Amino acid sequence: MTISIIGSGKVGASVALNCGLRELDPKINLLDIVEGLPQGEAMDINHQLSEKGLDSYIVGSNDYSELKNSDIVVLVAGVGRKPGMTRMDLLKTNASIVRDVSLKISENVNDCILVVVTNPLDPMTYLALKTTKFPPNKVMGMGGMLDLSRFTSFIHDFTKVSRKSISAMVIGEHGENMLPLIRFSSVSGIPLQEFIDKDQSMQIYEKTKQVAAEVIKFKGATVYAPGNAVSTMIESIVKDKKTVIPISVYLDGQYGVRDVCLGAPAIVGKSGVEKIIELPLDDFEKDQFAKGADSVKEAISNLF
Ligand code: LAC
Repeated sequence: MTISIIGSGKVGASVALNCGLRELDPKINLLDIVEGLPQGEAMDINHQLSEKGLDSYIVGSNDYSELKNSDIVVLVAGVGRKPGMTRMDLLKTNASIVRDVSLKISENVNDCILVVVTNPLDPMTYLALKTTKFPPNKVMGMGGMLDLSRFTSFIHDFTKVSRKSISAMVIGEHGENMLPLIRFSSVSGIPLQEFIDKDQSMQIYEKTKQVAAEVIKFKGATVYAPGNAVSTMIESIVKDKKTVIPISVYLDGQYGVRDVCLGAPAIVGKSGVEKIIELPLDDFEKDQFAKGADSVKEAISNLF
């Protein structure tokens, strides 16, 4: 497998480092339009991998032709949000970047799995899908995997159980209408509600939705958790692990929505999105999911 990452900013470099630390590929391409940036990041990461005796080699380049023969392409090029902004505030700026990069991907690669990271994640995943004209099972967005990282962190904070025992699920929009699923999260298979009460559930729910903005307020960007989340998705593809992961995926009637990309649990393996899993949502969850779908559809309507 060959992995190529387009965008060598903080998150793109974190993706390269995390994929290297997991030795997901002997050669990982790290691309950017900024001269020197991908090359410098590649050197720095290779020095860390060398000390650890890991044999993934990061190649920094400004040349899109390096994309050819890629099996997995990560699209993380774009502008990150500033403190006080929502992910949706990046729509216009990042849409032109994602459209341009998606065209370059389709010109250089004819069969790959595309993992989109650029925000606003769900509209950008849809834009990349339509611009590359790749089959829907070959395009996925990294959103829910990151949201569940935070959800898990808060569940640990409230329950004090080992993080390893926690199984959390977040679906819907990777944004203001995300849906942490308390009912479908558990501690070693025991329903989460056995460990937290209604009030604590609502606190965890709200914290999960707001915490990215808090990190950005404190340190300017989220970096490590996004990079890790993308490499977890890539590992499931490279090793054909068929992990069940919440990803932004093209929905064609699932969850009662059509022609939109939104976070849903899916089996992720060597052929990409292998199966979208439909959960039996209750009325509150359906409403929240529908709000996310409306928000993303509204954004998409401004792109075409
Ligand atoms: C976040 C960005 C990557 O949630 O959307 O950190």
